[in-house]
Amino acid sequence: MTGLSDSFQRPINYLRISVTDRCNLRCVYCMPEEGVSLMAHRDILTYEEIYTVAKVAAGLGITKIRLTGGEPLVRLGLPDLVKMLAGIETIDDISMTTNGVLLAQHAAALKKAGLRRGNVSLDTLKPERFNRITRCGTLEDTLAGIEAARSARLDPVKMNMVVMAGVNDDELPDFAAKTITAGWHVRFIEHMPVSGSGDIKLVSVGEMKKRIESLGSLEPSRLDVGNGPARYFRFPGAAGTIGFITPVTEHFCYQCNRLRLTADGKLRPCLLCEDEIDIRETLRSGTSPDELKSLIEKAIACKPQGHRLAEGSGRQGRPFSQVGG
Ligand code: 5AD
Ligand code: SF4
Repeated sequence: MTGLSDSFQRPINYLRISVTDRCNLRCVYCMPEEGVSLMAHRDILTYEEIYTVAKVAAGLGITKIRLTGGEPLVRLGLPDLVKMLAGIETIDDISMTTNGVLLAQHAAALKKAGLRRGNVSLDTLKPERFNRITRCGTLEDTLAGIEAARSARLDPVKMNMVVMAGVNDDELPDFAAKTITAGWHVRFIEHMPVSGSGDIKLVSVGEMKKRIESLGSLEPSRLDVGNGPARYFRFPGAAGTIGFITPVTEHFCYQCNRLRLTADGKLRPCLLCEDEIDIRETLRSGTSPDELKSLIEKAIACKPQGHRLAEGSGRQGRPFSQVGG
């Protein structure tokens, strides 16, 4: 492999690109009710600028890209960006994290443009509760988005549920059952106490597993497609899998392979640490790819060893909607 490693010998091959800080929902764990101040349009990278950064990053060993937001599909013409990125020869995986609201409209075009797979945020299967958690969304839209993504073969579609004590944790068995009845791939995520994420109580993975195993024992499994930190299980014979993502109770920083690009053109070495390196001004000054390359190298070199969420370090700084979750 020609790729880059950071100062802790972690290979870095995965770039998460936030294409917008805007969102059509206001999930309680992500944004305060009044929303957050928005980036000015002129500060947001154009698709050409994003492409330029991705191409230089690909030259340095990035092979996987995920598009995030805010909500990526509120940005117009997203399939155009996917097509541009898919044209970079050494990028072999393009995925997206979406709330699914607009996915039914766009799934087929995204697939055609070169999107390989998608993760859909879904925290409840109850219509009223969905509206309460997202503060404005309609469950039906997201379910239609999931079906459209599955029909368009954005495989595998993974459902991400942020598990919140007293809010949706009673639905753990219902989500787990979907891996048997509908072949869903479901991932349960520990709530991270970060800026704008509300006062929500964590459900530990041990507790999650206990409740899910009321349906039967889980066996370790693998989901071959993925670049992330989830640990996978399944019920014997089920088509779908169950993943756990444990940013708080069990660090996975030691295997972190990612770098982030924010919508306003900052390279962010770690989701949970505030350090950022501006690449937008360099991009806009018409500079050579070599200078962009050295900024990317610099961002990777200053990736911290790990976060200190468990000690309460994540509350300041930019909300996830600005950084890409
Ligand atoms: N804790 C855990 N996950 C979060 N996300 C956003 N905010 C949080 C949080 N506070 C993740 C969810 C969501 C995606 C967009 O970002 O998985 O689905
Ligand atoms: Fe929007 Fe996703 Fe944040 Fe919900 S979690 S408000 S869908 S960016």
